Amino acid sequence: MRRLDGKSALITGAARGIGRGFAEAYIAEGATVAIADINMEAASQTASELGAGAYPVHLDVSDQASIDATIDAVVTHAGKLDILINNAALFDAARTVDITRASYDRLYAVNVAGTLFTLQAAARQMIAQGHGGKIINMASQAGRRGEPLVAVYCSTKAAVISLTQSAGLDLIKHSINVNAIAPGVVDGAHWEHVDAMFAKLEGKKLGQKKAEVAAGVPAGRFAVPSDLTGMAVFLASAESDYIVSQTYNVDGGQWMS
Ligand SMILES: NC(=O)c1ccc[n+]([C@@H]2O[C@H](COP(=O)([O-])OP(=O)(O)OC[C@H]3O[C@@H](n4cnc5c(N)ncnc54)[C@H](O)[C@@H]3O)[C@@H](O)[C@H]2O)c1
Repeated sequence: MRRLDGKSALITGAARGIGRGFAEAYIAEGATVAIADINMEAASQTASELGAGAYPVHLDVSDQASIDATIDAVVTHAGKLDILINNAALFDAARTVDITRASYDRLYAVNVAGTLFTLQAAARQMIAQGHGGKIINMASQAGRRGEPLVAVYCSTKAAVISLTQSAGLDLIKHSINVNAIAPGVVDGAHWEHVDAMFAKLEGKKLGQKKAEVAAGVPAGRFAVPSDLTGMAVFLASAESDYIVSQTYNVDGGQWMS
């Protein structure tokens, strides 16, 4: 018996990166997984590569109608929703004096409102089903401390940690566990984008920021998505039934709390 046999999971932003890694791990543990992403072409490609346990769904987490349609699509495809991972997010960096309202609005719409209202829609479905559920939010070490050029992203991830605390306390009476994972630095397309931004902002060569950051990780390297999948499977399984409102660092020792 695998740990997620018969479960129906929805993973936002699962077309690539960490979300894709989670989908792969959930399928290996017996779940059926909706690869929900704003990039439908990539979601379809990923779903076909992951095989029979995966199916693509178009989702923009900043759009309420799209969230509602996604929950409907999951229930139509799999008959129910047992697990949500709120993984989709955007990153931006700027000097404090250069932060724009457009960037602020975009990051809060996806990282904070997207997380809250996808969680809400999933919780409504889980409550109606009557047998609990698991909700996992993607926070970050960035939500635990400030960074000079990353005020907006850091604050969105602090908001995710706080939403996890309050929603977890409210939903546990329905046997819905809400918890979060706070990664440190995870290799992939996201970090290529971050590295390029820092190269511009700090006058560094491409790859320099990544090398500096990797040297500062106590574990001595960036994570890869499979470093996070153990925690994601655990938080989706019955083994975590008594865990409520927590944010777990999976970060090679970057932050201690
Ligand atoms: N990579 C890291 O170092 C790192 C560190 C800490 C936390 N995280 C968090 O982990 C999560 C995944 O990170 P990643 O590195 O895999 O990111 P990524 O940028 O590689 O993937 C994000 C995915 O989300 C999708 N997406 C973007 N906007 C969307 C929207 N409005 N609706 C639906 N999908 C949307 C993108 O198309 C993409 O497929 C994010 O929440 C991120 O903040 C990442």
